[in-house]
Amino acid sequence: MPGRTHRPVLLREALDALACRAGGLWVDGTAGAGGHAEAILHATAPAGRLVAIDRDADAVEAARRRLEAFGERAILRHADFRQLPLLLDEIGARTVSGILLDLGISSLQLDDPGRGFSFREDGPLDMRMDRSQTATAADLVNTLPEDRLASILKDFGEEPRARPIARAIVRARGQAPIRTTRSLADLVASVLPRRGPVRIHPATRAFQALRIAVNDELEGLSRLLEQAVGRLEPGGRIVVIAFHSLEDRLVKRTLRGLTRRCVCPRDLPVCACGRPGLVRLITSRPVRPSASEVRDNPRSRSARLRAAERLGATPGRAEDPAEARA
Ligand SMILES: C[S@@+](CC[C@H](N)C(=O)[O-])C[C@H]1O[C@@H](n2cnc3c(N)ncnc32)[C@H](O)[C@@H]1O
Repeated sequence: MPGRTHRPVLLREALDALACRAGGLWVDGTAGAGGHAEAILHATAPAGRLVAIDRDADAVEAARRRLEAFGERAILRHADFRQLPLLLDEIGARTVSGILLDLGISSLQLDDPGRGFSFREDGPLDMRMDRSQTATAADLVNTLPEDRLASILKDFGEEPRARPIARAIVRARGQAPIRTTRSLADLVASVLPRRGPVRIHPATRAFQALRIAVNDELEGLSRLLEQAVGRLEPGGRIVVIAFHSLEDRLVKRTLRGLTRRCVCPRDLPVCACGRPGLVRLITSRPVRPSASEVRDNPRSRSARLRAAERLGATPGRAEDPAEARA
């Protein structure tokens, strides 16, 4: 969008948490416009390489342009980061030095009405990050049963009025299909009672919920984090920036879980196996953007960064914690 650029959120904090150093192989699983990726390549110069992944072909193109100057040090992939183990196998990398995931959507996606993520401007109700995928938000809104719509709104949007909104959607689509972001936003707003000054747009939660459902965002995230940690070299770090509490909770639980790998029977009051965890937490509490970052970039306000460091293991030996536990 003219005049607006994507500003990487928590940039300094992410680089510090990754403990970037010269050399190594790094992963940015959510390249977006390439802001974090570019900074990682600078911080790891002259020889550090970066695998930059995005499931949005437009984002990969934008990142490719931005990272062109780094030549072969930047390895671009149009893929879902949940395929990370496969992608690393393909380039012959058993372990990596650090992994960044800056979850959610980018300003490139949000600011383009044609992508259908925003209710502020009218556009097709699309919301697909990867446009080669078939189902759009309009498909979900116009075909799912009321119960399923209500659970998406409740589970992924923490929307307290999930049921009345789902009912209104089903009623409205009986007259005519809901095809645009504005028509859905107006419909949601018409269901929600107006109480005093509103801090967020009434459709915010519903749009978040639909976006998560369309892109299946939470599915497999925990498993991917475990696999990603399994591909870190000892001392390597994983850094995750989440923008809503559902995602952040999942990240917190998974990283915490990886600090313990006790295999004692559940009824044993204290651990007897003494099995060390796979990681130590770098952030006991999430790192939040500073007041000045929020002032400069209001979209950063809900960001929470968490990081963990891979503990010692035989160097070069990748381990999948999910399998190790089984
Ligand atoms: C917040 S933006 C990242 C911005 C980026 N860090 C920058 O500095 O420009 C999130 C990006 O992650 C991508 N994304 C979200 N889920 C993904 C997934 N499962 N696999 C690959 N990319 C994903 C989105 O398409 C979007 O471009």
